[in-house]
Amino acid sequence: MKTVKVNASKNYDVIIGEGVRALLPEKIKELFKNGKVMIVTDSKVSSLHLEKIKMLLDENKIENDAFVFPEGEKSKSPETLFELLESLAEKRFTKSDVLLALGGGVTGDLTGLAAAMFLRGVHIIQMPTTLLSAVDSSVGGKTAVNLKAGKNLAGVFNQPELVLCDTSLLETLEDDVFADGMAEVIKYGVLADKELFDKVKSGNVKESIEEIIARCVEIKRDIVAEDEFDKGKRQLLNFGHTLGHAIEAESNFEISHGTAVAMGMVLAAEISYKNKLTEINLTEEIEEACRNNSLKTACPYELEKLASFAGSDKKISGKTISFIVPEKLGECVGVKMDLSEFSRMLEMN
Ligand code: GLY
Repeated sequence: MKTVKVNASKNYDVIIGEGVRALLPEKIKELFKNGKVMIVTDSKVSSLHLEKIKMLLDENKIENDAFVFPEGEKSKSPETLFELLESLAEKRFTKSDVLLALGGGVTGDLTGLAAAMFLRGVHIIQMPTTLLSAVDSSVGGKTAVNLKAGKNLAGVFNQPELVLCDTSLLETLEDDVFADGMAEVIKYGVLADKELFDKVKSGNVKESIEEIIARCVEIKRDIVAEDEFDKGKRQLLNFGHTLGHAIEAESNFEISHGTAVAMGMVLAAEISYKNKLTEINLTEEIEEACRNNSLKTACPYELEKLASFAGSDKKISGKTISFIVPEKLGECVGVKMDLSEFSRMLEMN
């Protein structure tokens, strides 16, 4: 078991290890006294894990209820958010109660936003069930729902009180969902830790998954401690994401987030080198690491097509974009450029 301590506007522990869900009752009693728990989860995770979590709470006489919504990105919507808020109100949840986000990124982001809004703030525990949410979305306090115009357009920063990452919950993941999370792990290696990159590039990761998740969380923790509200350094976490989000959108979300990020990282490395933003060409190394981790890397779209999507990304400020460039393994920098310059760069490739 490993504990990573996050110091942000709220200080909290991220506890990672096999079976750490068993700590849930004692942590709830320690942090929230007699608070009752609303478990928020989707239809798929509910069929796999809800019963055992409910049983754990029941056995420890912790009052609980569950809000289950349909699996998938479509549920990351204002409609589901308000259904959850209405359910909390109807069941008379109060400020001393707690929401438990049991699931992947959709569940974590939706529940985090509901926790910030309900009664202007109730407690939240994140319990990730995907590798992607374990290494990224459950930590750092970004919450959101999607709007018609795009992904994650309505949200707030809301740090959890605790993250309990039980690695045994990842054992039921399908291979492609596990691979999705590996795209984010590879991203952490490229942007902050060559040793991590070298460790995961062969694709043999399952044996040391606890250590790998803990290292990714430490990297994210350090970045969030410096720039919780995404004004500067935190944007490094977007390596591969500006083009990745454009690929997801162009595919009408048929291409998964992790695959799109893998394609986005390879393209970012190639474009950076060709446009002399970096002296070292990391394209092949990143491509190989992605391939060995069952991630497709060939982008099926013309780059100029992606330019218009990239222009509506929420990471843009005014008409300027911060394009994340890999300088060497373990180090990335943000290069600010006009959107028109960015589009021109894509069109030339
Ligand atoms: N997922 C990127 C961030 O938390 O900033």
